[in-house]
Amino acid sequence: MNILFIGDIVGKPGRHAAASLLPVLKDRYGIDYTIANGENSAGGYGITPDIAKSLLNMGIDLITTGNHIWEHKEIIPYLSESDTIVRPLNISPLAPGKGIAVIQKPGVRPLAVVNLIGRVFMPPAECPFHASLGALVRIEQDYPGLNHILIDFHAEATSEKQALGWFLDGKITSLFGTHTHVQTSDEVILPQGTSYITDAGMTGVVDGILGMDKEQIIPRFTTSVQRHADVAAGKEELQGVVVRTDDKGRSVSMVRIKEHL
Ligand SMILES: [Fe+2]
Ligand SMILES: [Fe+2]
Repeated sequence: MNILFIGDIVGKPGRHAAASLLPVLKDRYGIDYTIANGENSAGGYGITPDIAKSLLNMGIDLITTGNHIWEHKEIIPYLSESDTIVRPLNISPLAPGKGIAVIQKPGVRPLAVVNLIGRVFMPPAECPFHASLGALVRIEQDYPGLNHILIDFHAEATSEKQALGWFLDGKITSLFGTHTHVQTSDEVILPQGTSYITDAGMTGVVDGILGMDKEQIIPRFTTSVQRHADVAAGKEELQGVVVRTDDKGRSVSMVRIKEHL
């Protein structure tokens, strides 16, 4: 099975890059499932139901998110209604939405996707390590025999991401980091068959700062004035990974994607 994961889609240029490049990538790699992180897809901050639907309509099967998920209040009922968007699992159990989703297409094995958030340099959250084990138990109970499990670990610290990757080696198919928006070149198949990358990267304008207008972000550092910035304009890129798996749900390969328009 071939799975495409798309790193954080940032604003309209990110959506445009994804829509334009998705058919090419699906064809090139024979993609069975496409997952994308959409936490920045609405103007760089959060996601709305309409934008979530537009991502699904362009051929993304499931949307993961992160710390920006609560930016637009309209997303709150949608998170509970939709089976194709997840928010970090390891936050309050009272939070709307879900942190685990299972998708299945005819003739293809089912795929479970878990969204977790880190605790280092991030807003308060429950332990992602403990939450990941709970997720595996729930998946086994609800979908016995399901062996393709992906985790989007939305976290800042490289060490925390590497630790979770090694902690889950052999228990899941693949763990990819998101949130830093900077693709790392450390993709690897760990000894027990879990593929890992610290950060899958970002989909949007690369001549900015994490996809946002650099002329508005630089003053955040030079003046300490913290304001939302606009999405950058310029060269668009789709970044992510393609994971190839075997029938046992182990990763065979992980290939980094960095494709510009
Ligand atoms: Fe992000
Ligand atoms: Fe984030």
